[in-house]
Amino acid sequence: MKRIMALVAIAALAIPFGVQAQDAKAGEGVIKASGCLKCHSVSADKDGPSYKSVAAKYKGQADAQAKLEKFVSGHHGGPKPKDKAKDAVAFILSR
Ligand code: HEC
Repeated sequence: MKRIMALVAIAALAIPFGVQAQDAKAGEGVIKASGCLKCHSVSADKDGPSYKSVAAKYKGQADAQAKLEKFVSGHHGGPKPKDKAKDAVAFILSR
């Protein structure tokens, strides 16, 4: 019984992480297609801050995903396609 409970707990944890990893993967494509890399890179500051530094700045903030989705949607034309801010932000926050 304990074993089953542990398996259920592991499965419950693994599902949301799996989804987030998928979003992040899709987000890399969105960021490339949206021209974000003209001003940003993952690890070096360019015109805009590196995505690593953005992830560090928002680390531990529960509302980071929602906040940045809003920001990114209105930022330099936003993500392409428009409804993919979620994926782009998942990519940035997982750096
Ligand atoms: C023309 C240059 C430029 C482009 C293109 C650009 N950015 Fe930025 N970005 C900046 C600059 C400059 C800042 C820092 C100042 C500010 O907040 O606007 C920034 C800040 C950010 C931040 C940090 C916000 C915060 O609260 O710390 C994120 C996240 C971000 N950009 C994501 C993106 C994404 C995703 C795209 C593509 C859809 C993108 N940027 C396209 C210049 C750019």
